[in-house]
Amino acid sequence: MIFYFSGTGNTRWVAQQIAEAINEELLYIPDLIREGRYSFTLQKEERIGFCFPTHGWQPPRIVREFIRKMKVEGGEYCWALTTCGDNMGECMTILNKELRTIGLEAETLFAVIMPESYVCLPFMHTDPKDKELWKIENARHQLSHIIPIVRDRKRGIEELEKGATPRLYSYVIGGYFNKHMITDRKFTVDENVCIRCGKCAKVCPVDNIKGTPPTWIHNGRCTCCLACYHHCPVHAINYGKITRYRGQYYYNHPHKE
Ligand SMILES: Cc1cc2nc3c(=O)[nH]c(=O)nc-3n(C[C@H](O)[C@H](O)[C@H](O)COP(=O)(O)O)c2cc1C
Ligand code: SF4
Ligand code: SF4
Repeated sequence: MIFYFSGTGNTRWVAQQIAEAINEELLYIPDLIREGRYSFTLQKEERIGFCFPTHGWQPPRIVREFIRKMKVEGGEYCWALTTCGDNMGECMTILNKELRTIGLEAETLFAVIMPESYVCLPFMHTDPKDKELWKIENARHQLSHIIPIVRDRKRGIEELEKGATPRLYSYVIGGYFNKHMITDRKFTVDENVCIRCGKCAKVCPVDNIKGTPPTWIHNGRCTCCLACYHHCPVHAINYGKITRYRGQYYYNHPHKE
């Protein structure tokens, strides 16, 4: 079983590659939350994996909240993978702290660098096209190495991109970021630009958008994945003023495998 979350498709692609290669069931966390499905029974030998993007050097709130409600029986091999634009700090330490509360611990851990999706701070941009393609090519290579590790249930492997001073980033800067900057209050739509396609509402993993032009419901569940911003075909959605001159990105590369 692989539990995953993805806003802009990077992690979905990575999780799909692994699931297909090892013939594993892939479960999208927002769907499970919608269905109220938190109890899972695994066969004794079954693997349990968690794949998600790094948000502010921590696992996304939606992933942490889901784990806290999970009840898992059986299974003996647990692994986890995070995608990130640059580095993930102590994201996996935080994940394992959450997992231990439900009796699990990911023993094999990976970070896969993928194109950047966060654009809401002055120094944050989407990657230029060549860097985007280079990251995806590298990720493909990395996956061909990750897949046999997970398939063969190898333990104790840690291939992470912690960056410099990971504790500072995850607990201090990331702590502030996740407490104060994961908010939907800054989203706006330019109604003169919006072509009323409904994509933003469709891609929101937590049903926080209604109507065309969109309004944000402020249901308290926005995880700031930026799927709504990045998927808008006419860049009508902004996050404060800063994203007006920012690029858009979501994973839509053809499968070459
Ligand atoms: C709210 C938010 C916070 C992010 N924080 C980080 C971070 O701390 N470190 C990093 O390297 N990338 C960060 N990113 C970039 C994403 O982790 C990266 O682009 C990821 O692959 C996106 O996955 P997805 O397409 O599956 O949503 C952040 C992205 C978002 C939306
Ligand atoms: S409102 Fe936008 S940023 Fe928030 S969860 Fe939905 S798609 Fe993601
Ligand atoms: S995705 Fe963009 S164009 Fe489509 S409804 Fe939403 S804001 Fe309007």
